[in-house]
Amino acid sequence: MRFEVYRYNPDTDAKPRMQAFDVEVERGMMLRDVLLQIKAMDESFAFRHSCGEGVCGSDGVNVNGSNRLACITPVAEFQEPVVIRPFPGRPVIRDLVVDMSDFYQQYQAVDPWLKRKDPVPEQESLQTPEQRARLDGLWECVMCGCCSTSCPSFWWNPDKFLGPQALLTAWRFLADSRDQGEEERLDALDGPYKLFRCHTIMNCVEACPKHLNPTGAIGHIRNLMLKKSV
Ligand code: SF4
Ligand code: SF4
Ligand code: FES
Repeated sequence: MRFEVYRYNPDTDAKPRMQAFDVEVERGMMLRDVLLQIKAMDESFAFRHSCGEGVCGSDGVNVNGSNRLACITPVAEFQEPVVIRPFPGRPVIRDLVVDMSDFYQQYQAVDPWLKRKDPVPEQESLQTPEQRARLDGLWECVMCGCCSTSCPSFWWNPDKFLGPQALLTAWRFLADSRDQGEEERLDALDGPYKLFRCHTIMNCVEACPKHLNPTGAIGHIRNLMLKKSV
């Protein structure tokens, strides 16, 4: 099968180019296997990966126009030629490796930890099964960035709009019965950009390889803000 892969080394190349590779594709092969074969053919080719199981979130790439996690994307889904590019809207470090600093900064900005006002219990903070179930569809995020890097609002304002991943995380803690930081969390999300720059285009939902719903989470935060303001 023919694969066209984005190549660019900002230190040595005047501009990016696409390079074609023909790879012997076998049944059950994932896109990461193809990238590894390309790497074996040309060791200067750079991409990120680690676990190979859809857990570490490091091998997000853009395939035929959609953001995908390479290790859990079957090659059989695609028509030739398969065009593989880095995530859109991110500065390229080399080939498929992009700078995700803004993405991590936005994650950090939502204080992704439990905040407690009461003393921390000696053993566990218990939850009912229903309280625990509220976190399903939120905790599974592997921080791959497929959502935020497919979001036009994040492309244009990565320093001001928190983006779907960070907002999903914000809701993950707001929805947690053990968290006691609701007021300060909502205050921190106020303003025209951080939350409200989402235009509900839903690229993020389509891109998520874990089938999560950042747009839904953003809606829940907006509703909670509304409820608190009346
Ligand atoms: S729904 Fe909001 S967060 Fe998701 S892609 Fe669209 S603008 Fe971005
Ligand atoms: S919400 Fe989905 S697409 Fe976004 S970072 Fe988490 S796992 Fe990846
Ligand atoms: S290599 Fe870890 S998620 Fe794909």
